[in-house]
Amino acid sequence: MSSDSSSLHSSAVINEAVQALRDGGLVAFPTETVYGLGADAKNPDAIKKIFTAKGRPSNHPLIVHLAAPDKFDRAQIDWVPVLAPWVRDLSEDALKLINTFWPGPLTLVFKKDKSVLNELTGGQDTVAIRAPAHPISQALLRQFQGGIVAPSANRFGKVSPTSAADVRDEFDDVLDLMILDGGDCEVGIESTIIDLSSSDRAVLLRPGLITPSEISTKTGIKVYLPGEDAVSKRDAALPRVSGSLRAHYAPTTPLRMYASGRILDALSEFPDIKSQVAVAVWDSDSSLGEDGHPSVHFEEVIVPSDSTVFTSRLYRTLRDLDQQGWDLILFPEPPPGEEWDGVRDRLQRACFGSGPSFSNHANS
Ligand code: TXA
Ligand code: MG
Repeated sequence: MSSDSSSLHSSAVINEAVQALRDGGLVAFPTETVYGLGADAKNPDAIKKIFTAKGRPSNHPLIVHLAAPDKFDRAQIDWVPVLAPWVRDLSEDALKLINTFWPGPLTLVFKKDKSVLNELTGGQDTVAIRAPAHPISQALLRQFQGGIVAPSANRFGKVSPTSAADVRDEFDDVLDLMILDGGDCEVGIESTIIDLSSSDRAVLLRPGLITPSEISTKTGIKVYLPGEDAVSKRDAALPRVSGSLRAHYAPTTPLRMYASGRILDALSEFPDIKSQVAVAVWDSDSSLGEDGHPSVHFEEVIVPSDSTVFTSRLYRTLRDLDQQGWDLILFPEPPPGEEWDGVRDRLQRACFGSGPSFSNHANS
């Protein structure tokens, strides 16, 4: 996200996007995490168009995006009236999280108000909500004066888009799709999702830039992992999250991770490979060193060892490498540490789902 990204769109363009949404159409727009494919959260037919365009199963719920009230001082924003039409009850912890992190890359799951459409919740009695920070998403939401449902603007199971051109690539057959261009997304992976719906505990459903320790430090709220001690009994009742499928966020080129110095192990699964392998290497490591292989051509791609910078470029790098015709892409295993959890999660799923046959089992 460039600092002047809001100026990329005049109010006339935002007005046109708002009209498209009011007419039941889809509009792709930038958020600070990834680009979203938006529709009016109160229009069941528009919501159905999202599932059709993405090829996503209709029981995978969507996130409702809301505008932050137009207040200069973030600390004085009153979120209660914003959330009241969507959420059945708002706990003190929920308000603490909201006041600390919204607008921003944090999605919260609540018990839904009865007026929230089943089409968007996949028939569940909960609803996921976030207020994105990107100036274009904020401008769009303010002007629209309603909730916008928006999954990441990619085909089901594929890598999320972090630029307007990525969205165009994903939906090149949807010629009339309006895409608001806000430059490159700053965060680069999807929002952190915390479930507040099923008990008095906050449970992490999807790791992202905002980590449980940051939440704990700033709010005193402990975030549990699914399956962690007292919540384990409830696992079966946890909401469905499409990001929790083992295969997700996946390139078409086979992708694997290698442990430090163990590139040959990662190759052993591909005995026939005689050709072109792209190997991502930390910028802090000088090179692949001894790890050569007589019949394989390696090309090093330097990746940042700073977790925030790496995260912001992860999908960009995967997409670019996927289009370069490699036979295999290798990524280094992320180091231990919570700040790498979001990346580790996305890379593991991307590895599992990668390869040309992925589209066959993704939609099954
Ligand atoms: O950063 C993001 O969150 C991006 C941008 C566009 O806002 N959106 C995004 O949406 O990642 P999507 O649909 O690709 O992923 C949303 C995730 C899905 O895994 C979905 O299952 C989960 O949120 N989700 C939605 N509603 C839920 C609910 N009621 N309970 C549990 N999970 C829910
Ligand atoms: Mg997605």
